[in-house]
Amino acid sequence: MHISVSLAPGTRARDIAQLGDSLGCYVVIDVLRASTVICTALANGAKEVIPFADVERARDQKKRHDADALLCGERAGVKINGFDLGNSPSEYTPVVISGNSLLYASTNGSAAMAQSPQGTDTIVAGFVNLAAAAEHIDRIGLSTLIVCSGREGGFSLEDAVCAGALIARLWEVSDHAEPATDSAYAAQALWDRYKDDPAMALWQSDHGKYLISLGFGSDLSTCAAIDSIPVVPTMKNGRLVLA
Ligand code: MLT
Repeated sequence: MHISVSLAPGTRARDIAQLGDSLGCYVVIDVLRASTVICTALANGAKEVIPFADVERARDQKKRHDADALLCGERAGVKINGFDLGNSPSEYTPVVISGNSLLYASTNGSAAMAQSPQGTDTIVAGFVNLAAAAEHIDRIGLSTLIVCSGREGGFSLEDAVCAGALIARLWEVSDHAEPATDSAYAAQALWDRYKDDPAMALWQSDHGKYLISLGFGSDLSTCAAIDSIPVVPTMKNGRLVLA
C-alpha cells in the first residue's frame, strides 16, 4: 500500500495525476479547523456534511434543494454573512445540529473535499480521529494520497505534521504501508519534530496565530486533541457521513 502526501494545494492536481488509476484512497486533512468541525458535527448527530468549493454553490444548494439545511463555514476564519454557523467546533453542539444536513463552505478544507477524484474512497482526517482514520486506510488497503488542505494555496505546518502522524499510525497498525514519495518522508520527519508536543505545531503555525488573533485560541486545543473524536467522515455521493 503506497502512501503519498500532497503537501500543498499547488501540487494537488499533479499529485492526483501521478497516482492515476492506482489511487484508491483520498484522505483530506485540515486540522485548523475543517477536519475537526466535520468530525465534531457528525459525532454530535449531524445527518451529513456536504462540502462546497465556494460559498455561492452552498447558497444555491440551499435555495434549490435543501431549504431546511444549515449553511455553515467561514471566510477569513469568521462566519459568512447570512450563514447559520461559522467554523468553530464549539458551535456544532448536538442541540444545534442533530439530525440536520450541513452545507459546508470553508476556505481550504471543504474545497479539497469537494475536489476528491471520482471513484476513490474519500475520508476526512485530523488529530482528533487519527487512529480511526489509520484503521480505515489499512482496511481499504489501496494506494493512498493524504491531502494537506494548506492555507490559501500554500503549505500549512499543522496539516503536514498531522499527515506525518497519520503515516506513523499506519506503520503501527499496518504491515503493508510504505511511504512512497519525498513528501511522505518529509511529513514523517516533521511529525518526529513535534510528536512530543503536537499542540505546539498548531500554536506555531501561521493559521493558528491568526485564529488566536480572532479570539479562537481555545479551538487550537480542541483541534490538537489526539483521538478525542474517533469517527471516520466518509464521502458517499458528495456527502460526508459516518462510516
Ligand atoms: C479552512 O478550511 O480554510 C479552515 O477550516 C479555516 C478556518 O480555520 O476557519
